[in-house]
Amino acid sequence: MSKSKGSRLVYACQTCGFQSPKWLGKCPDCGEWNGFIEERAAPSSTSDPAKVGMFGLSATRPLRYADIESQDDSRRDSGIAEFDRVLGGGIVPGSLVLIGGEPGVGKSTLMAQVAGALSDSHGTVLYVSGEESERQIKLRGERLGLKADGLFLLPETCLERVLEQVDALGPAAIIVDSVQTVFSMKLESAPGSVSQVREVAGQFLILAKNRSLPVFLIGHVTKDGQLAGPKALEHIVDTVLYFEGERHHNHRIIRAVKNRFGAANEIGIFEMTERGLVPVANPSAMFLSERPVGAAGSVVVAALEGSRPILVELQALVSSSQYGTGKRMTVGVDANRVSLLMAMLEKRLGMHLIGDDVYLNVAGGIELDEPAVDLGLVAAIVSSYRNRAIDERTVVFGEVGLAGEVRAISQASSRLREAVAMGFRRAVLPQTNIAGLPALDDGLELVGVRSVAEAIDALF
Ligand SMILES: Nc1ncnc2c1ncn2[C@@H]1O[C@H](COP(=O)(O)OP(=O)(O)OP(=O)(O)O)[C@@H](O)[C@H]1O
Ligand SMILES: [Mg+2]
Ligand SMILES: [Zn+2]
Repeated sequence: MSKSKGSRLVYACQTCGFQSPKWLGKCPDCGEWNGFIEERAAPSSTSDPAKVGMFGLSATRPLRYADIESQDDSRRDSGIAEFDRVLGGGIVPGSLVLIGGEPGVGKSTLMAQVAGALSDSHGTVLYVSGEESERQIKLRGERLGLKADGLFLLPETCLERVLEQVDALGPAAIIVDSVQTVFSMKLESAPGSVSQVREVAGQFLILAKNRSLPVFLIGHVTKDGQLAGPKALEHIVDTVLYFEGERHHNHRIIRAVKNRFGAANEIGIFEMTERGLVPVANPSAMFLSERPVGAAGSVVVAALEGSRPILVELQALVSSSQYGTGKRMTVGVDANRVSLLMAMLEKRLGMHLIGDDVYLNVAGGIELDEPAVDLGLVAAIVSSYRNRAIDERTVVFGEVGLAGEVRAISQASSRLREAVAMGFRRAVLPQTNIAGLPALDDGLELVGVRSVAEAIDALF
């Protein structure tokens, strides 16, 4: 790496990219501790407006809106339906997609499968790997059963050399595994530092837009944010996909946390097998497969993930604490939301939870953050508190307000259809949702409730 003219020392937060002339213990921008690392700030080619326009075009002029080609019809199937779904209905040419996840979760596996499928249908695909040798990738490919005649592997970490090879090969899609291993010779910072990761992502963005080809960047995420934070990348790329939940289950959930070309929050559900990631045909059945029947504290909610309704089991455990004040712990739901609902239960229903430990878990490692699961959380807590089981063929959903009122939620009918499909007989839902429902003649009893007290009467 050459020492470029005008380079000066700066300290950059490795989580968010905030720069300071002095070392700081705590980042004033994102609040992270001990994240500052010495970097050399060199003038970046991408940030020189005299040299390049927005996407590296030599000059940009205003274009008439009506003359601009529409893009949406040009989406391509990746060949893996669950992956297309997360992307919003296929791959958009010219899009830059970040795929993040913890070590070993299956990022390379997924992208090797996508690369294989893409090369079968769209021609040349380039897989750039800075982490594994071509032999290792081939070994994985053989396990996954890839034929992939049009797939090319490039073990390379230097950005400029990668771009040369892209020029020479002219691929229809590029996969970079991982963005943290690639470095630009223009910068003196170490590979994986925020400034390198940004520069590399910026260059791939220019490449994607100029050549109208999709570029997929794999990014590592560690829980303590050791490597350059993907947060610094999120605003550069068009789409961010994350592997969600723990990797101790066999299934993997991939969520679109940002998407410029489709609904955010869309999820794809796969099972990790010896032959790679296999789409799960019926997610509700998978999430409910290990449900304890007749156990207090367990309730099924109809959640909406992106455009898809999914039935998920919530579990609560309320037990008297050894100590004065109880512990609260949640997995898969927001702890603050649960605290709020518990405060509501204390005030409106006179439940005494102060001296109890309360644990909440979403079975299956999925994360639920829509208010429609509120009523399910309340039902699970009350069920465990009273040690009374909820009927196993009852599904619950609704938003809960601080006055204990149950509020309407979106897309009640698609949630109900999923409940019918899974053999449920009864649904406890907001009364205000019932009015707008199309007639359902499928043996599902609908119980509309206006308040948490009514819901509890209906359930117990
Ligand atoms: N023979 C096998 N049978 C079943 N599953 C396997 C097999 N070999 C690997 N796996 C699965 O693949 C996972 C590793 O996948 P992969 O290498 O794609 O992860 P990654 O996210 O790219 O990891 P890294 O961050 O290290 O690059 C393992 O954790 C394991 O679950
Ligand atoms: Mg990998
Ligand atoms: Zn920061």
